[in-house]
Amino acid sequence: MLQLTPGQLRAEFPIFERCTYLNSCSLGALSRRSRARVNAYLDLWDTRGASAWYDTWWAALEELRARYGQLLGAAPGSVALHPNVSSALGVVASALDYNSRPRVVVTSLDFPTIGYQWMAKAREGVEVVVLESPDGVGVPLEMYERAVDRRTALVATSHVFFTSGAIQDAGAISAIAHRAGALCLVDGYQAAGQLPVDVRALDVDFYLGGGLKWLLGGTGVAFLYARPDLLAALRPSVTGWFAHREQFKFDPRAFEFHDDARRLEAGTPPLMPVYAQLGGLDVIEELGVPAIRAATAALTEDLIASALAQGLRPRVAPRPEERSAIVMLPSDDPHTDVRRLAEAGFIVDARPGHVRVSPYFYNLPDDHRALLECLTHGR
Ligand SMILES: Cc1ncc(COP(=O)(O)O)c(C=O)c1O
Repeated sequence: MLQLTPGQLRAEFPIFERCTYLNSCSLGALSRRSRARVNAYLDLWDTRGASAWYDTWWAALEELRARYGQLLGAAPGSVALHPNVSSALGVVASALDYNSRPRVVVTSLDFPTIGYQWMAKAREGVEVVVLESPDGVGVPLEMYERAVDRRTALVATSHVFFTSGAIQDAGAISAIAHRAGALCLVDGYQAAGQLPVDVRALDVDFYLGGGLKWLLGGTGVAFLYARPDLLAALRPSVTGWFAHREQFKFDPRAFEFHDDARRLEAGTPPLMPVYAQLGGLDVIEELGVPAIRAATAALTEDLIASALAQGLRPRVAPRPEERSAIVMLPSDDPHTDVRRLAEAGFIVDARPGHVRVSPYFYNLPDDHRALLECLTHGR
């Protein structure tokens, strides 16, 4: 059970004083805790300037790596910080060997930045294989089985599809990759925070995500987990001074990788987002991810049932345990619907052919009813 009552939760997120927010899969709501953390960072910058680096700000980076690691069930020292997922992918992509294994397998439902990373390596002989979802909701495991072979360097796909909210069996996908001698990278941006994640149990090689959505951290902060026993072999050609084992030697003549996952970092992490994310994690940890999942799964089922009762046919995974809190409601003109809803105080999103609604633990079933009333009666 959540420790905070819905009223207390709402008070933590002032946006609910102004609107009904149902778009956490685009951007999680700003908490008072994040605002307080960012203010504390600005105060330090104002009062201490660069002297805050060596005690406070350095420790904040360490704290965030460690807390992301705890959230993911990762071993200490296996999480690197990045400003966004694309930059983390760039580092991973630059560390793999494509000579005997030129292929990377992705799916048509993944966030496109995943595939782009390897499409941009076409001139190095890298080939991207895109598994086409048969129904726009998921990708059957047999399709991975058929596509992954000894030419595959990496399977790179999502834990939760941003396109349908469907939860993939990341452990099974990783096992398929490993059986063929390939690695497995999972984009957990739409999973971490709303679903319990245990990277060791999933046995994935890389797991990425960031603050923007279900982790309530806003823009500019992302994480990259790498399996500890892989680290020593990872020598990315995209790098920077934060990856150097002794970065404060400032030696321009010699480069030596850190032993731990910091070898996968590059430059100075953006501190304001780090502080916002620490505040977001305060909320997530206080509630606990299993309780968040229970509350959010109940809201998801309520939204689907309410939509069906209004005659809508939400495009979601067939079984509740495969669903996350992203619900696609069919729409002939999603941009007009989303604009009209915004004018009435409902924040949701448009995707091709759909209005995308994503409730989180701070929502209430009444939010769904009010939204659906406005959506269906205004058409
Ligand atoms: C599944 C998924 N991956 C990645 C991203 C973002 O990637 P980046 O951090 O590179 O902007 C998003 C959304 O913004 C997403 O939904």
